[in-house]
Amino acid sequence: MTLSQYKNAIEASNIVSKTDINGIITFVNDEFCRIFEYSREELIGKNHNIVRHPDVPSDAFKNLWDTILSKKTYKSTVKNLSKSGKTIYVNTTVTPIINKQGIIEEFIAIRYEVTKSIELTNQLQLKEKELEDLNNTLERRVKEQTHELLVLNRNLEVKIKEEVENNRKKDRLLYQQSRLAAMGEMIGNIAHQWRQPLSELGITIYKMKKLFTSRGDEFNFLETYDHSRDVIKKMSNTIEDFRNFFNPNKVKENFLILDAVSETLNIMKGTLTRHNITVKVHDKSCVKINGYLSEFTQVLINLINNSKDAFKQKEIKNRQIDIKISKDDKNNAILSFSDNAKGIEEKIIDKIFDPYFTTKHSSIGTGLGLYMSRMIIKNSMSGDIFATNLKDGVTFSIIIPTR
Ligand SMILES: Nc1ncnc2c1ncn2[C@@H]1O[C@H](COP(=O)(O)OP(=O)(O)O)[C@@H](O)[C@H]1O
Ligand SMILES: [Mg+2]
Repeated sequence: MTLSQYKNAIEASNIVSKTDINGIITFVNDEFCRIFEYSREELIGKNHNIVRHPDVPSDAFKNLWDTILSKKTYKSTVKNLSKSGKTIYVNTTVTPIINKQGIIEEFIAIRYEVTKSIELTNQLQLKEKELEDLNNTLERRVKEQTHELLVLNRNLEVKIKEEVENNRKKDRLLYQQSRLAAMGEMIGNIAHQWRQPLSELGITIYKMKKLFTSRGDEFNFLETYDHSRDVIKKMSNTIEDFRNFFNPNKVKENFLILDAVSETLNIMKGTLTRHNITVKVHDKSCVKINGYLSEFTQVLINLINNSKDAFKQKEIKNRQIDIKISKDDKNNAILSFSDNAKGIEEKIIDKIFDPYFTTKHSSIGTGLGLYMSRMIIKNSMSGDIFATNLKDGVTFSIIIPTR
């Protein structure tokens, strides 16, 4: 191979340029013109830094010049700029050509383009960076979310505690309200039961005055006196009945359901006669239950009051309440309380035990009676109470386990 054949081979496959000792271009091959998009005329005589990229720091050029001026070959991947502003990466070798006297005559630069592979590497690095960033953000997000969840959880716990406390307060309030309602009922009954003996006493005292003024008749006077004492005794008993009801000894006891029923009927005597209500009691079982007698009595009072209201509202003539006490095959005590006041509309029968549910005028209904009754039966006696419609009325069934 001759020298010119070598030269041709190199020039055909590489980007070649030559400059003089000052860096002024003296030769470019076709490949150089094609890659950097200049014509040969535009390049010859110009400084080689015509293809310099503004990104490249001047340090790099200092290094190049130091190397080649000390007669060494310089090798590097260089970032260049084409005429239209394209970035071109080239692997460059710059060799100083030295003459026989050992002086640098010119520089020859041989390069090949590596733009594609550099760009791919750059893109890859960019993607890797993005991925890393994404990973970092993800980790941070997970941490943040976990923290948020923790805070949320803590808030929720506080909320639940508050709600539970609110519910407890509401229950206490409901209980007090229902006791107040019952107390109102009691006072009404006392008034009723006292009306007759009070007028009786009035008559008696009048008689005494007459007997006293007409002088003598000691026998009649003493008889009238005894009668007055009886009346007063009866009034005092009435008070005693109600006092027991409102001052319940708060110890659970075993009691006959029948006793609770009798006490209720005694307390409610006034209401029942005033409203013409007949109550029939059937008890073949003599079953005892364990709980607070006064509370159980309150449930029965609620049921009687509801029947009374229904009788009045539906204008029932022949007003009947039936109370049956029995036991089922699982040894539960059953009290079924039925009236003939035309029953409860099916569409509301599921709601009647809800607090504040009432179909009555706000001056009569509190909607608490059945709610409290169910609370008492469930909480104090582990039993249940529910309502079913009959042909002409409703039955409330109370079921209480007897252990
Ligand atoms: N024996 C009954 N006959 C018909 N409806 C009844 C009877 N008992 C209860 N109800 C219905 O159930 C509702 C809720 O009763 P309750 O909880 O005692 O509250 P209130 O008596 O204050 O309305 C009543 O408003 C009424 O509509
Ligand atoms: Mg009621």
